[in-house]
Amino acid sequence: MSNNFKVTSKLYDYDINIGLNLIGSVITDDMFILTDERFENYFSTLSKNVITVLPQESLKSLETCELILNKMVNLQMNRKSTLVAVGGGIVQDLATMIASIYMRGIRWVYFPTTLMSMMDSCMGGKSSINVGHWKNLVGNYYPPAEIYIDVSFVKSLDSVAIASGVLEGLKICYARDYSSFTKFKEFLELAAIDNPQTYTNLIEHSLKTKQWFVEEDEKDEGVRQLLNFGHTFGHALESATEYLVPHGIAVGMGMLAAIDFSGRGNSTSNLRIISEIRQILAGAHFDREKIQFSFVPKDFISAFNKDKKHTNAYYRLVLPTEMGLEVVAFDRTTEMENQILVCMQQVLDTI
Ligand SMILES: NC(=O)c1ccc[n+]([C@@H]2O[C@H](COP(=O)([O-])OP(=O)(O)OC[C@H]3O[C@@H](n4cnc5c(N)ncnc54)[C@H](O)[C@@H]3O)[C@@H](O)[C@H]2O)c1
Repeated sequence: MSNNFKVTSKLYDYDINIGLNLIGSVITDDMFILTDERFENYFSTLSKNVITVLPQESLKSLETCELILNKMVNLQMNRKSTLVAVGGGIVQDLATMIASIYMRGIRWVYFPTTLMSMMDSCMGGKSSINVGHWKNLVGNYYPPAEIYIDVSFVKSLDSVAIASGVLEGLKICYARDYSSFTKFKEFLELAAIDNPQTYTNLIEHSLKTKQWFVEEDEKDEGVRQLLNFGHTFGHALESATEYLVPHGIAVGMGMLAAIDFSGRGNSTSNLRIISEIRQILAGAHFDREKIQFSFVPKDFISAFNKDKKHTNAYYRLVLPTEMGLEVVAFDRTTEMENQILVCMQQVLDTI
């Protein structure tokens, strides 16, 4: 039994299936699999054609793409081959990029295995590859032909990975409207790690909410940009801690910093989301001291300044305003830079 729905795209429409134990019924021994090293033993029993990657942010690079492409040639993959990617956001970003360029594009299918990739990144077709210290500098749009969300993968995730996914889902629903946000909280209360099926409604709600943004603005030129809420602070925090802070956690802290920076932390809707984010972060039980200790302010500002959404003259941030979330531009001054750093530092001091 699985829940299915279709996402419309200018490239090609694709199906999303959410259910329990889907992986065994879809993978056959002639498929080409790209997966996280963590799943190597499992997939080598299912197929001879397995390529593994170490899911490290520093390896989400063009060099790794080239290594994978060489392995695809050695496995004699051709234009008609299908690549099956199984993993979290790092495997997904690499798979999107290589499937789009191998022999000018082959079919690919995706099984997200982290809650973040199930709730958020699997939909929308973006690839994001790092170049040097530039996070997600290059990429393109090339959605999988099919997405299978096998919720049984949730079982092995730790509390940090769960919180990381939940924070991204919360962000999507908050960006949409109050009723999506409230419904998300209701489904969240029913989700229990020892019963992965209870995550089905939460994931489906998050994705169907994201679907509105993606179908409205697939190429990220308008309303989809609101999903970057918390990301400029978050990406810079990931970078300034050598990626010790997982992506979704960094986005959660980034949302807190962005709200503080907006000066609107006392509005009712912001008080609601602040309290929700703080509760989820507290439930993650991550090592706060390690994160505070590893934070390098100058690396933070340097990464913040490199965000590809800014222009030479302006910072461009997604911030809460009287009208809800909006993209707001500010002059790039030293004073503004100091304020940005203070807001991030305050979050780190109080998590
Ligand atoms: N392309 C997009 O639209 C998009 C959107 C958001 C984030 N991202 C990218 O995604 C990346 C982060 O991805 P992520 O948070 O999904 O994780 P990840 O791929 O970085 O993996 C994180 C850790 O989780 C482990 N893991 C994966 N599945 C597991 C499972 N079922 N049980 C136990 N452990 C498991 C991995 O081995 C790894 O150690 C970042 O590079 C971010 O930039 C991309």
